Amino acid sequence: MTRGKFITLEGLDGAGKSTHLVWLVETLRARGKSVIQTREPGGTPLGEKLRALLLADPMHLETEALLMFAARREHLAQVIEPALARGDWVVCDRFTDASFAYQGGGRGLPAAKLEILESWVQGSLQPDMTLMFDVPVETAYGRVTGMGRELDRFEQEKADFFQRVRQAYLSRAAASGGRMRIIDASRPIDQIKKTLEEIIATI
Ligand code: TYD
Repeated sequence: MTRGKFITLEGLDGAGKSTHLVWLVETLRARGKSVIQTREPGGTPLGEKLRALLLADPMHLETEALLMFAARREHLAQVIEPALARGDWVVCDRFTDASFAYQGGGRGLPAAKLEILESWVQGSLQPDMTLMFDVPVETAYGRVTGMGRELDRFEQEKADFFQRVRQAYLSRAAASGGRMRIIDASRPIDQIKKTLEEIIATI
């Protein structure tokens, strides 16, 4: 049995990640792949309870990081690892790069602490490919605040928080050895799809 591929999507809130995720899953299925679509924080019944706490309840930044990784541990054990082992592809809306970007860059938790959690929870497992949808903070910010719904605890942060998140994503991408692909998501949607098609043809 060939192991499935693990693809994660990242980007600022409002970068358009959700639209591209739907398209990516449909495209892979149309190519005959068996695809599990999931998300973080969340992806399991326990993980979704932790997500509700994480998005709503104020907490110490280390508690926040620990709960993100607790949800991730459960997600890996219950969903991601079994799916990959049986040959399914897993497309996950956010994963550990988001912890380095938001808890690390945004909140200022030292990367060394996140690296300990990363190797504890994942061992050597990394996504096969990470698509990072990159837009200027002003674009993402305008989209999120224009949505007309109540904002969660992260979306309520200020522009300088998201500047740090974006920078952390970009530096993690630079150090990722090609795993993370930065996609200029400020372009028209058909151009973004063309780029995505070229990228997924390579895996
Ligand atoms: P998001 O995918 O943006 O949810 P939605 O599209 O429903 O708003 O994810 C929720 C938030 O969780 C997002 O603001 C980023 C944050 N997050 C972290 O801070 N650290 C993490 O490790 C993960 C996975 C997400």
